[in-house]
Amino acid sequence: MQEVSLLKQLTLAVMRGQIRASRDTHRPGWHLAPSVGLLNDPNGFIYHAGYYHLFYQWNPLDCRHGSKYWGHWRSADLIHWEHQPVALVPSEEYESHGCYSGSAVIADDRITLIYTGNVKYPDGSRTAFQCLAQENERGEYDKLGPVLPLPAGYTGHVRDPKVWQHDGQWYMVLGAQDKQLQGKVLLLRSNDLREWHPLGEIAGSGLGGLGPFGYMWECPDMFRLADQDMLIFCPQGIAAEAERYRNTFQAGYLLGQLDYTKAAFDHQAFHELDAGFEFYAPQTTLAADGRRLLFAWMGIPDEDELYQPTVAYGWIHTMTCPRELSLIDGKVIQRPARELQVLRREHRQWQGRAQEAPALSIRSAEMIVDVSAPFILGLGDEMMLVWDGERITLSRRNLRTGLQEFRYWRGQLQQLQLLCDSCSIEIFINQGEAVMTTCYFPTEDPIAIFNGNAELRLQHWLLSSPMLE
Ligand code: FRU
Repeated sequence: MQEVSLLKQLTLAVMRGQIRASRDTHRPGWHLAPSVGLLNDPNGFIYHAGYYHLFYQWNPLDCRHGSKYWGHWRSADLIHWEHQPVALVPSEEYESHGCYSGSAVIADDRITLIYTGNVKYPDGSRTAFQCLAQENERGEYDKLGPVLPLPAGYTGHVRDPKVWQHDGQWYMVLGAQDKQLQGKVLLLRSNDLREWHPLGEIAGSGLGGLGPFGYMWECPDMFRLADQDMLIFCPQGIAAEAERYRNTFQAGYLLGQLDYTKAAFDHQAFHELDAGFEFYAPQTTLAADGRRLLFAWMGIPDEDELYQPTVAYGWIHTMTCPRELSLIDGKVIQRPARELQVLRREHRQWQGRAQEAPALSIRSAEMIVDVSAPFILGLGDEMMLVWDGERITLSRRNLRTGLQEFRYWRGQLQQLQLLCDSCSIEIFINQGEAVMTTCYFPTEDPIAIFNGNAELRLQHWLLSSPMLE
């Protein structure tokens, strides 16, 4: 469809929807959310000329997945974000069913986007093109068209290019499904971002000692973290186990060494990045000071999304908070980006037995809990965290079935850091050893209630709600 018609539809959707969306008490105070419609993956996350740019998969017309646009925000500090012109609308034949996920690089001092043009045919088949778009003087994006058609040997599921520079060359990883319906990550090289040379599969189901590991891998990201190469991706089709892989789809990583000349990635075992209920399609970038920052979608593509109460207000999903990654003693550590501390307002401290702790507001708050003996923490009537001395069990009510559902983390607890908003809680365990990220939809003024005999040390801050302008 013509770009102008699509933009008219989008404008109408925003005009009709934004007041209703803003009346929703679950609208986040400080997380990024779409003004209307559905948000999913973070895309094109990059720092350039004093600003972080974060693009996002957006269906402005509906709370269901459908033809995707790229929305665009920027921020000088990762906290105060401002809307930018919509970057991509699916107007061309080579992207007729969506401008799907991708990344950004700086070429000729401009932001260049590399994304997937998704095309579906009436007979149910599909194809995908990897496409370029370049920033112009108005902060809009000019499409340069496809640079890579579907590679031979793969189904129509080849997408989500992440591009970076190494030794003067451009490299791309792509998520793919081969003709045997196995998930893979492909590596490609280019001199100019336009002509791409396939180098081979660097990881996948049945490769590198993984065994059968899913029918599709989405959203790969490859980067250096300390002395390791880290490949993040989202495998689909992994069977749930008692305490891990409990979500419909996973998001995790492999650490190893990438040999660029042989296109070989010698890696260790797979680990999930998050042990909570909603975390998918993470994407990273380098901060100006060299930190590796990560955003993810606080959602999972599954059949239950539409049971979320925000749908009645015409919007759905948020981003996670930004995290910073580091490698300590061979372990990936994820902490809330230190910039988030500027959100902290009134501070309260308390020490004593869990059951005597004051009830604390968690509508928009941060809590640090130092504790090593078993205790229970109720979160806004909707969620419960139990530490039994061996594992954490996080439970909540499933919105479709009404039954309790559970997620787990096993290890020795010393500290919890909870970042709470009106529709989510992100729980950082032991200063970033693990994270449990979860949406929930509590009553208007949710509180945290501690129980048990454990000796606790509590810190609590209310968090401010910066405007998304
Ligand atoms: C992951 C994903 C990507 C795709 C995008 C479409 O959530 O399925 O693989 O590019 O979403 O919105």
